[in-house]
Formats: sequence, C-alpha cells, structure tokens
Amino acid sequence: MTHNQFDNKSQAWSALFSEPMSDLVKRYTASVFFDKRLWRADIAGSLAHAEMLCAQNIISPEDHEAIKQGLNAVAAEIEAGKFEWKLDLEDVHLNIEARLTQMAGDAGKRLHTGRSRNDQVATDVRLWLRGEIDLIGELLRDLQIALLDVADRNLDVILPGFTHLQVAQPISFGHHLLAYVEMFSRDSERMSEVRRRTNRLPLGAAALAGTSYPLDRERVARSLGMVDDHGQAQICQNSLDAVSDRDFAVEFAAAAALCMVHISRLSEELVLWMSQNFSFIKIADRFTTGSSIMPQKKNPDVPELARGKAGRVVGHLMGLITLMKGQPLAYNKDNQEDKEPLFDTVDTLKDTLRIFAEMIGGQANPANGLIEGGISVNAKAMERAASLGYATATDLADYLVKKGVPFRDAHETVAHAVKTAISRQIELSELPLEIMQQFNPLIEADVFNVLSLRGSLQSRDVTGGTAPHQVQLQIASHRARLE
Ligand code: ARG
Repeated sequence: MTHNQFDNKSQAWSALFSEPMSDLVKRYTASVFFDKRLWRADIAGSLAHAEMLCAQNIISPEDHEAIKQGLNAVAAEIEAGKFEWKLDLEDVHLNIEARLTQMAGDAGKRLHTGRSRNDQVATDVRLWLRGEIDLIGELLRDLQIALLDVADRNLDVILPGFTHLQVAQPISFGHHLLAYVEMFSRDSERMSEVRRRTNRLPLGAAALAGTSYPLDRERVARSLGMVDDHGQAQICQNSLDAVSDRDFAVEFAAAAALCMVHISRLSEELVLWMSQNFSFIKIADRFTTGSSIMPQKKNPDVPELARGKAGRVVGHLMGLITLMKGQPLAYNKDNQEDKEPLFDTVDTLKDTLRIFAEMIGGQANPANGLIEGGISVNAKAMERAASLGYATATDLADYLVKKGVPFRDAHETVAHAVKTAISRQIELSELPLEIMQQFNPLIEADVFNVLSLRGSLQSRDVTGGTAPHQVQLQIASHRARLE
C-alpha cells in the first residue's frame, strides 16, 4: 500500500489519523460521483483564485503559470473523458487538486493557500447555478414564443372559459394561452432575481473566519463575472454566512417548483382538451404514445409526466429547505446534500421546458423553414362547447344593466330566462323575443347581438380582457418584451 496522499484517504488529511476510513464511510461521505459535474466551475474558480494569489505576491508568477497550465490540462482530460475520478478522493475539489499536483508538483500544492473547500464548494455551486439559470431563461423565452405563435393563430377561436370547470363565459383561445405567457414571464423574472443573489462570491471566507493572507476578493469576483449591472464586484460580506447558507439554492428551487406548477396546470388542460369528451386539440404524434392492449389509444404521456414531475421538483424544494433547518453556523457536511436535489431540479426543469416549447409551438423543418408539429386546434369543437351551457348569460344581465336595471335584479331575471331555456332544452339565443320580454319588457331585438359568442367576446374590450383586439395588443407587447 502506498502512502501517497492521493491514494490513501487516511493520509489525505494529516498524520493525525491512526487508521484509514472504512470503505462504507468512504462511500457514504463521498460526493465525487455526483459533484464531478461542477468541474468547469471548480476550475474557473481555481484559475481566478490563483491569478489573484499571484497578483497579490502570495504565490510566484512561476507557480501561477504552472497552476494555469496544469488546470487547463486537467480540463482537457475531463473534457476528453480521460480523467480518472477516484472515490478515495471524495469530491470534485480534491480530485482536481490531486491531479493538478501530479502534473504541476509543489505549485499545485500552493493553490489551496487562503482557501478552504468550504468557500470553494459554495463558489462552485453558485457559478454553476448561474450558468444554468441563464439557460433556463432562454428556454422560458422559447416556450413563451411558442405560446404566442399559437395564440396569434387563434385570436378568433372561441372556447368556453370555465370556473369550477363549469362553462362560465366565452373566451378567445389566444387569450387563454396568454394566461400562461404571463405565468412564464413571471417565472423568468423570478429566475433573474434569484440569479442576482446567486451571483455573489464566497471565496475569501476560507473555512469560516476569513483568512490572514492579503487576498483581493474584488479582483476574484470581477474575474468570475460576479458583478452587478454597474460592474461593482458582488461579494458575500460575512465569512460564516458565505460558507454555510444555501438560501440561493432554496430560492432557485422555489422558483423552479413554481414554474413546474405552471407547467403542470397547463398539462392538466392539455390532457383534458385532448380527451374525446372535449376534442379541442391534437398533439403531434411524436409526443403521444399508444397502448399495448387498446389499439385505438393515443395518450398524452408528455403532459401527464410533466404533471407528475412537478411533484418531484416540489419535493426537492422541501428537501433543500429542510436541509438548512437546524444547522448551526458555519459549514456542516449536511450541505453536501444540496447537490443532488439541485441538479435534478435543473435537469427536470430544462427538459420539461424544452419539450413543451416544441410540443406546443412545433419545430421549424430545416429543409424548408416551415413549422411542423405543435398543437392543432379544433375550432369547431371549441365553439360548439362554448355555445352550450348558457355562456352568454352574463352578457344578457349586462344588457339589462345598460338599460337601467340594477345588476342584482338583472341577475335574477337572467336566472329565470336560463331556467326556461333549460326546461325547453334550447340555448338562450333560441328563446323567442316574446318570451324574453315576459322576463323584462326592456328587452328588444338587439338582444341577439349580445347573446352571440362573438358579440360577447368583442364586448370585453378592456385591458386584460378577452376581446380579440385586446389579445392582439397583448401579443404585441409580449413580443416586444421578448425581443
Ligand atoms: N463535498 C463537500 C460539499 O459538497 C465539499 C466541502 C467539504 N468541506 C469539508 N470541510 N468537509 O459540501
């Protein structure tokens, strides 16, 4: 057995340990098989730290050069899949540092000057998450554009709007989709706010109390792009807090969970709309699956699965926030448990956003630029559904109010009209004028304009309302925002 510090964990710490760690404990405490995915952030953080150590005359230019070359060589090895990750070296940080030291000798051993794995890991997770938040921002944008494209094509398509899943009032399908654009635009805002608090530098906090070396933390922050909109370096101001809190991860998980909940609500609607009882939409075949026993089936597995995955991401939020509860200052090993839920949250959210943008908006065919796939809308079925269920009853009440009837009385009058229509098994617009005039003599022939679905839609011409003209304005302002 060698006593090389990189092969034997009991020697990795110091001579203090009289026996090696048991294999079970090694496996239990190691994180390398999941945290290796932080390698780019780890190397970026080390390069910035080494550059600053040299600028501050804490290490020599020769050592800095050797570290730089060594880390670039390590990065190349990892990139090429040639790096050998070792469980014995516990985590991504020790694995990379050990390989660097094999390549760069004593210079490699000087890299850890004025630094601890505690501030190192906090920096790595923040850097990595910042990059993922940026990718999520782009995916959220793609999804909003897909929804806007479909909304644009379906401004004048009418479907029943529901409350309590009972037919309530007719709405434009474009308007319905814009509700989700609003939700995803707020998700995107939340992600930007989380990014701002994530993009702060823990390095320099060292193990917990700061360090006695004359570090230039601003310099490191600037070289890692941890700056605000005015280029001001963003630095964690308390060393104990810097190494120990993971509130940025909790906030991110909360924003991600909320976004998945929005996806889940949309999924529920897609599933309903696809069922034969609605037949409002079709989803391109490549997003559906068949049944092994019932040959006629086409199942909306993607939205169903997304609805299920929303639960999983909410679970990660619970895991992460509970992880922090009861941790005394400063760093505790509990924090190593932040990674798997965070990684899975990012993966699940990104995959879901990507697949939804394509499932809803379709995809450009590279051969001819034409959009293929996406949801297709059965306008007839939607309109038929809106014309059943007395969806324009409120319009009749509003009609009476405009003729001077107090709203509560108008409401009561319309209830009688609906009751009569139900007993005759006809729609409100099919009630003869003479019958309606029995409910209220103020009713005249122009009532049929307001009882039509299009008339009802057109009349809701208020900001945020469902009149196609308003929907058009909203689409334009969303497009301008997303440009
Ligand atoms: N793998 C550890 C983590 O993820 C790195 C920090 C370990 N620090 C320590 N003192 N054990 O949190």
